[in-house]
Amino acid sequence: MQTTDYNWEEFKNLSMPEKVVCFSRGDSTPFHTLFSQQFNRTNLDHLCSLATQIRTIAKTRNGMNFLRGLLPHKRAMLYFTQPSSRTFLSFLSACQIIGLNVGEVRDTAISSEYKGETREDSIRTFSSYFDIIIMRSRQKGLAEHMAWTLSNSERPIPIINAGSGQDQHPTQALLDIYTLKRSFERRGGLRDKTVMFVGDLARGRTVRSLSDLLLNYNNIRLVFIAPEPMQISEDVCNSLSSHGVDWIASSDMHKYLPEVDAIYMTRIQDEWDVVKGESAKIDTSRFKIGLDEMRICKPDAILMHPLPRRDEIAKEVDHDPRAMYWRQMRNGMWIRAALIASTFDCAERVNEFYRENI
Ligand code: NCD
Repeated sequence: MQTTDYNWEEFKNLSMPEKVVCFSRGDSTPFHTLFSQQFNRTNLDHLCSLATQIRTIAKTRNGMNFLRGLLPHKRAMLYFTQPSSRTFLSFLSACQIIGLNVGEVRDTAISSEYKGETREDSIRTFSSYFDIIIMRSRQKGLAEHMAWTLSNSERPIPIINAGSGQDQHPTQALLDIYTLKRSFERRGGLRDKTVMFVGDLARGRTVRSLSDLLLNYNNIRLVFIAPEPMQISEDVCNSLSSHGVDWIASSDMHKYLPEVDAIYMTRIQDEWDVVKGESAKIDTSRFKIGLDEMRICKPDAILMHPLPRRDEIAKEVDHDPRAMYWRQMRNGMWIRAALIASTFDCAERVNEFYRENI
């Protein structure tokens, strides 16, 4: 099955496993990175070790020169029409590290979309000047639509989804997996670990994407903690159950805190409120982490957050060695560099340099 076998209406209605097959390159990193479901243990392990090789090589001037020579003939378009600090900057830095030149559109009010150009035409325009498009949008499914459009055009360049609506944020999930893997390196990896998600689980795309990636690890247990209206959606629960994953949804964070290995905090996503101010009416006071909560956590638990945070993690917690969010953010730059390098089939060259020089 290929994207060219379908018109958009047909393609849009395929099931997720069918879409994954259309976009797959076997166990290699996919050409377009659109959904978490495109990743398996083989390409996840490959990306994480490539990220570690790149970050190690980047420590020396000689290494940096090698990395910058990887893709100087490629240009990346950062098309971010939804607010972003970390994802935008880490992709920008990742591109710079491996030598790509970068262009950007962040505000459609100053691009031709303002004159009424469709997103499809805009993307085709970018594809004439660039070799990869990294995009974030408020619109669910836009990245996949654009990937389908380009796959059916004369210049089928890769698309990376840097966040689409409330639905998917696959590269955040990659950096989260990389962070979990590094943190549990000496504790047998991710298998047998319990991960707790806290906050606005109904509208947070990072939680959805990471839950999907965690299906790739043995005997993982997930605990979803949220006030009732913000609890994790049924489709995620069904997918976990059908994969035999043990999960619990509860509003009692303190009950489960002492038994979890990782806590993944999220902010309230009130930009999605249907009625202005509706989130503010929900009592979220029991879904915050301060020093008292850290006291009851395991001594080797880790505390994660995709950021930005509001008040769900108290500032004083930043000094706790279990606070992982700043390192998590930096891991994003390395895994994104690995993803782009791998999309352009540079992994073998990195491997070789690593073996010979490190
Ligand atoms: C997240 C996002 O955009 O979904 N941010 C990020 O990419 N690090 C989380 C959020 O905005 O709450």
